[in-house]
Amino acid sequence: MSLIETAHAKINLYLHVTGRRPDGYHLLDSLAVFAGAADRLIYEPSGSPLTLDLTGPFGMKLADDATDDNLVMRAARFLAEGTDVALTGRLVLEKNLPVASGIGGGSADAAATLRLLDRAWALNTPQERLLAIAARLGADVPVCLVQRSTRMRGIGEQLAPAPALPACGMVLVNCGDAIATPAIFRTRNAAFSPEAILPAAWPTVAAMTADLARLTNDLEPPARTLCPAISMVLDVIAALPGCQFSRMSGSGATCFGLFNSEEDAGKAADALRREAYPWWIWAGSVLRERV
Ligand code: C5P
Repeated sequence: MSLIETAHAKINLYLHVTGRRPDGYHLLDSLAVFAGAADRLIYEPSGSPLTLDLTGPFGMKLADDATDDNLVMRAARFLAEGTDVALTGRLVLEKNLPVASGIGGGSADAAATLRLLDRAWALNTPQERLLAIAARLGADVPVCLVQRSTRMRGIGEQLAPAPALPACGMVLVNCGDAIATPAIFRTRNAAFSPEAILPAAWPTVAAMTADLARLTNDLEPPARTLCPAISMVLDVIAALPGCQFSRMSGSGATCFGLFNSEEDAGKAADALRREAYPWWIWAGSVLRERV
């Protein structure tokens, strides 16, 4: 019987770079939320060594990456370490999210692999061990493992409760330029930002966006320098009817707009699609479960 996991897009509502470790990794303070947009990972049992096939609109972008080095295959190997499970079966990754785009696609896929194979192989791995494996795979993988609104600190591995979110619509837009995260961190030349002070809950979208407006994505200025299309995308999102707030997510290039409802977001995305930009556009809502 095949098993399925969804790997939802991770959106950073703000992202402060608060410091730098001696090993070069950056200390962050960020509020990660998850959107309905998702990749799908399917597992079919077999007696043969584990394989990975790629499908979906962005599958081709990753085709060269369907090797043993792929984050999905590395996640599978790390999970099996120290167990007597045989690395068998067939994984199919339906790649619906743009690649290298600041919404955690690869990290979400790796995290989904851990959840899926833990079930498929009946390992019952303790959550603490799953989180430790996730941290070895990448800074964003732990938050994608829990896949709920989460405050991230440290280099991304320190997870804490997020404010309760209002019901809220979202539009995601990606201009198609893949962005390498290390280059963005290298280009950043601003001072470090302080940690944010957040309430326990945002009862309305207006309350949330008023606070977000005082915060920043510190990776947005270097990303705009390396990828000027981001500035245009942000201008276009901000001008959409009903848009309450717009910002870039993660290290880019995907940008988001927040709306009072999923319906408002859908109407804005329809209007944007009529403009026929060669962009990936998604509309839906923000998932409201939180750590
Ligand atoms: O951990 P991950 O592979 O997602 O990070 C990619 C790169 O982004 C790292 O090699 C590092 O250059 C940079 N990075 C960082 N500080 C973080 C997360 C990522 O400098 N907290």
